[in-house]
Amino acid sequence: MRRALALAEQGLGRTSPNPAVGAVVARGEAIVGEGRHRRAGEPHAERIALANAGEAARGADIYVTLEPCCHYGRTPPCTDAIVEAGISRCFYAMPDPDPVCAGGGDAALRAAGVEVEAGLLRAQAERLLEAYITHRRTGRPLVTLKLAMSLDGCIATRAGDSRWITGPQARARVHRMRNRMDAIMVGVGTVLADDPSLTTREVPGGRDALRVICDSQARTPPDARVIAQDSDAGCVIATTDAAHETRVEALRGAGAEVLVLPDVEGRVDLRALMTALGERGVLSVLLEGGGALAWGALHAGIVGKVALFYAPVIIGGAEAIRGVTGAGVEGVAEALALREVTQTRIGRDLLVEGYVGAVES
Ligand SMILES: NC(=O)c1ccc[n+]([C@@H]2O[C@H](COP(=O)([O-])OP(=O)(O)OC[C@H]3O[C@@H](n4cnc5c(N)ncnc54)[C@H](OP(=O)(O)O)[C@@H]3O)[C@@H](O)[C@H]2O)c1
Ligand SMILES: [Zn+2]
Repeated sequence: MRRALALAEQGLGRTSPNPAVGAVVARGEAIVGEGRHRRAGEPHAERIALANAGEAARGADIYVTLEPCCHYGRTPPCTDAIVEAGISRCFYAMPDPDPVCAGGGDAALRAAGVEVEAGLLRAQAERLLEAYITHRRTGRPLVTLKLAMSLDGCIATRAGDSRWITGPQARARVHRMRNRMDAIMVGVGTVLADDPSLTTREVPGGRDALRVICDSQARTPPDARVIAQDSDAGCVIATTDAAHETRVEALRGAGAEVLVLPDVEGRVDLRALMTALGERGVLSVLLEGGGALAWGALHAGIVGKVALFYAPVIIGGAEAIRGVTGAGVEGVAEALALREVTQTRIGRDLLVEGYVGAVES
């Protein structure tokens, strides 16, 4: 199952709206076949592993990171393939949270005489598929707020300088995070200040995620790097009715997709944006700032997880840009508390990760 999870991990950010799944066919201790789901529309992990095992699958065990599917989607059910291959035991790590499948795969296998054992390395599988689980439960992606800050919580100096606060190892880690995400999101303030390209250029074999800019008035310059760069991934400008038609047309002309959404107090309704992204199969979003959008997203309740990088430097200054701006809370008791907090040293920096209360549906 550990091998199956490692295979599944390679699919993160590539299989959406499907889950990243890995499968291993084994006879006792020996692996005789393995596979992973590569992208939606292509065969599921179980079918690839079974084909890889060939005749050796007869009487063997299969280890799958997610309950095998039992429905006709773009491909026929995996439970049929497992039964036809003559598998005797199926171990799967976690039940499928998708109501179309939930429990059905398990029942279909048992009905066909396959021995089934659920729950092997379940916690690891659920961590790996946390974005998929969030998406199937709420219809919205799992949003991870990532910021690179000084120890005193600044993301840029009073002059707007932010390059680079954290060290090369932390930046490489961010590129690996981007490589597993379906989308990366920033506010228009960051685009205007830094003109970032938001690529995964430091990851060998990496691919770019969909870029999303929250920009209520379509102030993004049409020649901004996020739009202009040569990439297979698209760029979405999320805006509102307040945006001038000429600006919207200029952005569309430059190759961006412009989504006109409802507003909340004049700014992009972030819940509506997450619903729109969820509908198009985006499971995961890495929100990379800046401070105003970070507050907007926390306040709107769309953030499920945070990844805060702290560099051992102090920037100071009342006019420096803080990681989270906006109105903030009034009483300490109202401060947003994180759950399941972990701390990891990355080079000279510290990464603090944690979950923000469950995103309610
Ligand atoms: N170190 C880091 O990790 C890091 C990361 C990112 C940025 N930065 C730095 O942060 C600075 C930019 O931060 P910022 O706070 O000025 O800008 P920002 O958060 O990137 O963008 C804020 C803008 O987003 C737009 N927006 C649209 N919908 C929104 C919503 N629902 N809630 C909040 N904002 C929404 C608003 O402009 P409209 O009203 O026009 O839509 C708002 O002014 C730059 O200096 C950059 O270098 C640092
Ligand atoms: Zn399947």
